[in-house]
Amino acid sequence: MTSKKSVGRRRFVKLCASTAAAVAAYPDSLVGAVNHGEFYEKVQLHDDENNPLRASALQPDKNYLFFYPFISTPCFLIRLNKPVQREVNLSTRDGSSYSWPGGVGPGQQIVSFSAICAHKMSHPSVQVSFINYRPEEVQFAGNDNRFHRRSNVIYCCSEGSVYDPADGARVLGGPAPQPLAAILLEHDPRTDALFAVGVAGQSMFDSYFKTFEHRLELEFKTQNITEAARGSARVIELESFCARQILC
Ligand code: FES
Repeated sequence: MTSKKSVGRRRFVKLCASTAAAVAAYPDSLVGAVNHGEFYEKVQLHDDENNPLRASALQPDKNYLFFYPFISTPCFLIRLNKPVQREVNLSTRDGSSYSWPGGVGPGQQIVSFSAICAHKMSHPSVQVSFINYRPEEVQFAGNDNRFHRRSNVIYCCSEGSVYDPADGARVLGGPAPQPLAAILLEHDPRTDALFAVGVAGQSMFDSYFKTFEHRLELEFKTQNITEAARGSARVIELESFCARQILC
């Protein structure tokens, strides 16, 4: 019998297994920039009224959320308050290296990451989110065992993992063993449209589906929680999805 997960996974294209097809479908620059990335369905981001989202309409430093590459996997969408114009080299828990291509859109300020914490998978649910983008200054214990104060981080208050969204979601502190998986975006400068096209780094999707299966089925009102996002994905403000954000 085919599992629900394998049905969902059949829909994406592993870059390493199908480079020729990926190169045909996506820009050379993007394919060249992504090592160990996976291309999924190309999905256009829509606003909360389900019209194509204009990248320039995103407000800087706001927590936006959409679901990709599956209908139940949350991602942060953030327009940072500064450009991120550089490629960043990162590595996963198992030592695989990959590169994150930086920001896209106006001023190259727009970035996106899986909102599933790389430690124990805390993520935004309808009831609560312990993991949030924090534009204000916060304090945290860094990997150098010192306390730091800085702004513009993604902070998981479950056990204190902190990630830098301007540096590919590199871990700044806490127990997370690897960066948040990066969501690969494309921007069309002619129409100002934004698209999600893939994931770089090590995603937590398999464990997430196994661990939270029953709750996700209730929350998303479907037994097919591994269904691929298709066509479009609606971008909403995190606070309109979660009843409560835990800020530490
Ligand atoms: S789940 Fe995020 S720090 Fe533990």
